[in-house]
Amino acid sequence: MLKPTRSFSILVLALVALNFTACSGKKEAAPEAASNKGVGPVQSMTVGPMDVTLAAKGQQLFQNKCSACHKLSEKYVGPAIKGVTQRRTPEWIMNMILNPQEMTEKDPVARELLATHFTQMTFQNVTQEEARSILEYFRQNDGAK
Ligand code: HEC
Repeated sequence: MLKPTRSFSILVLALVALNFTACSGKKEAAPEAASNKGVGPVQSMTVGPMDVTLAAKGQQLFQNKCSACHKLSEKYVGPAIKGVTQRRTPEWIMNMILNPQEMTEKDPVARELLATHFTQMTFQNVTQEEARSILEYFRQNDGAK
């Protein structure tokens, strides 16, 4: 009767150890940037080859709705935009544009940005389609083909 009990406790110990390892590995740190899709309406998307017409629309929108706080190459009220498509997934960028408030509350990366920029990015009344065109502009700016 001893044996099953012992293997059960070993199993419990193993699970506790596994759980501990998983948690301590995560810490406060952001999830893998390569897979972090953020929090918001865009769960999964694919980007194709560069669409210059779409990017031109995005550039216009960026100038109208974002340039009060963002510059391409230097930090302003918000982070510099250059390289953003390399450091974030397309979904994360879309969700940041469409859902900035919840992002800075729940997404560890966005929360950290808020902690270093001291200003809450606000939703600029862009549709998902418009956000997609801004993403295309960012991709173009980062040299996507
Ligand atoms: C009121 C100022 C403000 C406006 C307007 C604004 N942002 Fe932001 N943005 C910020 C700040 C500040 C952050 C950092 C997160 C935070 O503190 O909320 C940020 C973060 C971002 C990020 C993440 C950058 C990174 O390095 O990961 C993206 C992408 C972004 N903004 C895009 C946009 C776009 C696109 C628009 C226009 C539709 C826009 N923002 C309008 C202030 C602004």
